Amino acid sequence: MPVVKLSNGREFTATAGVSLVDAALLGGITLPHSCKTGRCSTCKCKVLQGETTALQTETGLTNAEKAEGWILSCVRSAQTDVTLEVEDLGNVVLPPGKTLPCRISSIDRLATDVVRVMLRLPHTVDFRSIPGQYIDVIGPGGVRRSYSLANANTADKTLELHIRAVDGGVMSDYWFKQAKANDLLRFNGPLGTFFLRGLDQLHLVFLATGTGIAPVKAMLESLTNIAPERAPQSVTVFWGGRTAGDLYFDPQAIPAGHRFVPVLSRAAEGWAGVSGYVHNALLATQPDMAHTVVYACGSDAMIRSATASLLTAGLPDNRFFADAFVPSAPQ
Ligand SMILES: Cc1cc2nc3c(=O)[nH]c(=O)nc-3n(C[C@H](O)[C@H](O)[C@H](O)COP(=O)(O)OP(=O)(O)OC[C@H]3O[C@@H](n4cnc5c(N)ncnc54)[C@H](O)[C@@H]3O)c2cc1C
Ligand code: FES
Repeated sequence: MPVVKLSNGREFTATAGVSLVDAALLGGITLPHSCKTGRCSTCKCKVLQGETTALQTETGLTNAEKAEGWILSCVRSAQTDVTLEVEDLGNVVLPPGKTLPCRISSIDRLATDVVRVMLRLPHTVDFRSIPGQYIDVIGPGGVRRSYSLANANTADKTLELHIRAVDGGVMSDYWFKQAKANDLLRFNGPLGTFFLRGLDQLHLVFLATGTGIAPVKAMLESLTNIAPERAPQSVTVFWGGRTAGDLYFDPQAIPAGHRFVPVLSRAAEGWAGVSGYVHNALLATQPDMAHTVVYACGSDAMIRSATASLLTAGLPDNRFFADAFVPSAPQ
């Protein structure tokens, strides 16, 4: 069977018809991933040697990227021995993803188009997640949609979601028009590899748009548990919205001693804060890119622009982590 080699020398065996991400997991190796359906690009990596074959359309790649040898390892399998330009996540052990029942314990309106949904798990279930991960909620009719967990501590069997209404959206319709306390739902998770790692003495920067602040909130809450020698040198949150009404809560309320910069792309006259896009707001601070790590979450457009401009500005490409809120795959 073909052998897949990573940049850091680690190897795993590939199986025909099994994606590289899943084959790696079977071999005890975790490659970066999120949607696992070829849409979000989290698993994007370059093939340095060997042949791979696409199992599904790679929606998250441009034609130019395909021509340069990039692949999405969640929807590619190996045909021959392959060398990939990507590193695994080291010794991180992902909590097992499970399908579990839950009930809505409350729904609160945080902004015109954002609700906070609190889900209650049965007391008997064992659910663990790493702050920053997401779950797939399985709603009425079996519709599945991904939502990031906004709370770091789920020991009390409560999950917090921040949900933005999408025009004409199937689950948006449920959350904003039908959902009520005590509704019974199911979810699958935790999922994804968007969580903090390797922060030691670096400047930690979060870029979030809209409800992309949800996993950032969870990660900020978790910072209080990091040993001082592993802690970042500084923490800055750039949170972007169109207008002031989009910034629906104050992350400064989370005790982490971080800097918080609200950024508006369509600010009304009289806005005294930063205007434009979050990644430009970061660049305007002339960051020390060689010692910075960036976690970006929210719209795909923001993440694509941020990747391009920050890497050009000198951010090492292994210090940019993202979770793009891409639309779901058709069901
Ligand atoms: C890993 C991950 C984590 C996510 N976490 C969150 C979260 O914490 N909070 C949150 O609010 N959302 C989150 N999302 C997005 C969420 O999963 C849904 O895609 C979104 O809420 C729309 O679902 P819907 O059923 O209402 O709309 P759908 O019925 O899926 O879509 C309706 C229409 O809107 C389009 N559309 C869907 N989503 C978008 C979008 N983002 N921008 C523009 N057009 C869109 C679709 O293409 C379709 O035409 C996350 C997505 C991913 C992949
Ligand atoms: S595109 Fe591969 S994990 Fe999303």
